[in-house]
Amino acid sequence: MSKILVTGGTGYIGSHTVVELQNAGYEVVIVDNLDNSSIEILDQITKITGKKPQFYNLDLCDEAKVVELIENNPDITGVIHFAAHKAVGESVAKPLKYYRNNFFSLINLLTAYTGKDVNFVFSSSCTVYGQPDKLPVTEEAPVKKAESPYGNTKQIAEEILAEAASVNPNYHIISLRYFNPVGAHDSALIGELPIGVPQNLVPFITQSAIGKRGPITVFGSDYNTPDGSCIRDYIHVVDLAKAHIAALKRQEENKMSGNFEIFNVGTGKGSSVLEVIKAFEESTGVKLDYKIGPRRPGDVEQVWGDVSKAETELNWKAELGLEDMMRSAWAWEQYIKDHPFS
Ligand code: UD1
Repeated sequence: MSKILVTGGTGYIGSHTVVELQNAGYEVVIVDNLDNSSIEILDQITKITGKKPQFYNLDLCDEAKVVELIENNPDITGVIHFAAHKAVGESVAKPLKYYRNNFFSLINLLTAYTGKDVNFVFSSSCTVYGQPDKLPVTEEAPVKKAESPYGNTKQIAEEILAEAASVNPNYHIISLRYFNPVGAHDSALIGELPIGVPQNLVPFITQSAIGKRGPITVFGSDYNTPDGSCIRDYIHVVDLAKAHIAALKRQEENKMSGNFEIFNVGTGKGSSVLEVIKAFEESTGVKLDYKIGPRRPGDVEQVWGDVSKAETELNWKAELGLEDMMRSAWAWEQYIKDHPFS
C-alpha cells in the first residue's frame, strides 16, 4: 500500500485523517512541529487503529530538513498538507507569522518534489468565498478579498498551487475547501484541542457545558437569516477526513481532469448558531447557558456549500448529521476532562 506524508498529522483534522488513512490500509508518515498539538495524540491514534504512524518532529519552514525528509522517504506517493497556523484573530495581530509559516512550509514541500511524481492534497477553506452572492456556493464562485491574513494565506496558497501545477505536470494537486469542521472520532480518543479560550463555536459550547467557561455569547441576532444568527455548513471531522482519502484515490486512479482541482467539502446544509445550540442540547440532554451579544467583526452572515462536485467526481458524501457532531464533540470534552493532554 502506498505511503502518505501527513503534515500537521497530530492536529485536529490531521489526526482524524491519519486514522482513516490507516483504516484504508495506507502507511502514514506524520510531520508535525507540535506547535499546536500534543505528542500524546500519536498514542491515541495507535489505540484506535493498532498501528503507530511514523513520526518526525520537524518544522516545514526548514528547507534543508524537508529535502532530507523527502530524500529519506522516496516511497512517499502522496502528501496531505494540513500543517498551518489557523487562528483568524492572531493572524490579524501577527500577519508576518502567518505569511511566513503558511507559505514557507508549502513552498518548501512543493520545491522538494520538483521533477518528482506526487499526489498533493491541500487544506483550503470556504473562507476564500467571503460572503457569497449566491447560495449554496459552488467552486466557480469568485474568490473575495480576504478578511484576514489567515484567509489570505488560503487564497494565495491556492494560486501558488495552481501556478506550480501548470508548470509541473508531475504534480497532481487537489485543494479541498472545508466548510466548518466540528465533532470528534466516535472512540472519543481524538478530537479538537483548543489552546486557551476557544474562538470557534463548538469547542466553546462543549467547554461551557462542562463548566470550563461561562455562558456562550451568540455573536449577533440581527442578521438577515430566519432566526437572526449566522449560518454555516458544519461538517463532521470524520466525514471531512474521509474526503481526503477520496481525493487521494482520484489522484491514484488518474481520474483528475488536469492536474489542479478544487472541491467544496461540506454537507450542503446550513445551520444557524441558535440551531447548533439547540442540536447540542437535544442530542446530549445538557442545557446550555447562552446570551445574545454583538456581531463579531469579520463574520460573514451565511454560507453553505454546493457539494455536488465532490459527490459526483470524488464519489464522496458527508454521512453524519448535526446530532452526531454534537454528541461526539461532547463525548470528547468529557474524555479530556478525565485525561488532560500536556
Ligand atoms: C472561522 C474562520 C474560518 C476558518 C474557521 C476555522 C472567521 C471569520 N472565519 O470560521 O476562516 O476556516 O474558523 O475553524 O473567523 N460564534 C458564536 N459564538 C462563539 C463562537 C462563534 O456565536 O463563541 C458564531 C460565529 O459568529 C459564526 C459561527 O458561530 O457565525 C461559527 O463560528 P466559528 O466556529 O468561529 O467558525 P467561522 O467563523 O465560520
